[in-house]
Amino acid sequence: MDRREVIRTGLALGAGAALGGRGALAAAEPAPRPVTFPDGFLWGAATASYQVEGAVHADGRGPSIWDTFSHMPGKVKNGDTGDVACDSYHRWRDDIALLRELGCKSYRFSIAWPRVQPSGRGPANPAGLDYYKRLVDALLEAGIRPFPTLYHWDLPQPLEDAGGWPVRDTADRLADYTGLVAAALADRVHSWCVLNEVKTFTQAGYLDGGHAPGRREPLAFLKATHTANLANAAAFRVLKAANPKVEVGSAYDCHPCWPATDSAADRAAAARWDTLINLWYLQTTLTGRYPALLPADRQAELLGWRTGDEALIKAPLDFVGINYYSGWKVAHRPGGTGIPGVNVEAQWAWSPRSIGKADNGWDIDPPGFYDILKRMQKVTGQIPIEITENGTADNTPAGPDGRFHDRRRIAFLRAHLTELRRAIADGVPVRAYHLWSLMDNFEWAEGYSQRFGLVHVDFAHGQARTVRDSGRWYAEVIRTNSVV
Ligand code: FCB
Repeated sequence: MDRREVIRTGLALGAGAALGGRGALAAAEPAPRPVTFPDGFLWGAATASYQVEGAVHADGRGPSIWDTFSHMPGKVKNGDTGDVACDSYHRWRDDIALLRELGCKSYRFSIAWPRVQPSGRGPANPAGLDYYKRLVDALLEAGIRPFPTLYHWDLPQPLEDAGGWPVRDTADRLADYTGLVAAALADRVHSWCVLNEVKTFTQAGYLDGGHAPGRREPLAFLKATHTANLANAAAFRVLKAANPKVEVGSAYDCHPCWPATDSAADRAAAARWDTLINLWYLQTTLTGRYPALLPADRQAELLGWRTGDEALIKAPLDFVGINYYSGWKVAHRPGGTGIPGVNVEAQWAWSPRSIGKADNGWDIDPPGFYDILKRMQKVTGQIPIEITENGTADNTPAGPDGRFHDRRRIAFLRAHLTELRRAIADGVPVRAYHLWSLMDNFEWAEGYSQRFGLVHVDFAHGQARTVRDSGRWYAEVIRTNSVV
């Protein structure tokens, strides 16, 4: 099947039909019109070190909290680990070839801290840095913007052994590590992302325990949020000191928050949850102050706040990265999270206007993309926004022809990109979109059970990479700078 035919197939299905069987929606749809993006809009794809690299013992890499966690029985579906993943540590040339084939202009990848600093402190491991130098140089050579994230959740295990993110010293450690990376790469990497989803790694790691290091300690979680905010701003300064010309941001996962009922109590709870997940990190970085949420007389003690932190925590980000997947359903529940003053029970991946579920159970709500961009712009104003992640799990197996006809992913992307374009038209300054993910990979606690890739990876048979229909469709989006 050639590229054109694939695109027609996607069109014929219509967003509604493919997004969970709402045939009526598909029937009512007007004929598709191209949705064209602004000139110069930057199209890319994203991955992360632990999810794709494998080679966990190669060239002096130290252990991370995800190595430890994934090897603990019962923590990851099917006992999967990132030991091999997509073997990108060895197959990075193949990955770049795929990016070229798709026409991606930007590649968001992450740097594994334990490759650069195997114990989380001390001098750089040159072999680890060399890997990223090779990758960056080859991307530049291919005309693709290298867009590294410094921390996509693989904390060196020795730092967790010393207390992890709840311990303030971890912020200094991240700043040191950033300095080592910057010394090697800030001459040729222009755009930097410091943290990936600071909300998720603090919350899933220290509050609900579903991710590494698997702790359920609400008070430690609060301290972790403050350390991570300090770390973010410290790394910003380190990068700017290394090269004032670089631009630095972070990737924030942002979510619509829906009250479980229309009661005043649930609506207030949804507002508190919105404050905690959408504002606690980003707004604090931009303003140097936490939004009102915790009991005011206990905030300093609960966070480990010190005099002078308002200056240390602040960073005038050059751009803001936004990841969008789904929303939260929030009810008032005294003592619900164990966080003083928050009092909610929150259910992830939910929307009252869901048009279907992804294969991993996440509700699909394309207008939520528009809404969250408009909502976050109230905080970010005219700071440029890059979509650092958006995508869906579509596990459709190979058809009889051996191809992957992942029509639901195409429908998801079409609907979300249309909402993104609407947000841009309505004044949200979005300049880039990175699809999660370039290829199937280790999906954290879901292991290899959920497939987010534009490219199918055959983990059981030699890591064969096969571009899915969605990959061909996305290539056409990039080529034409428009969505049909
Ligand atoms: C995001 C993570 C990313 C990936 C997607 C599906 O929360 O940042 O690594 O797992 O979800």
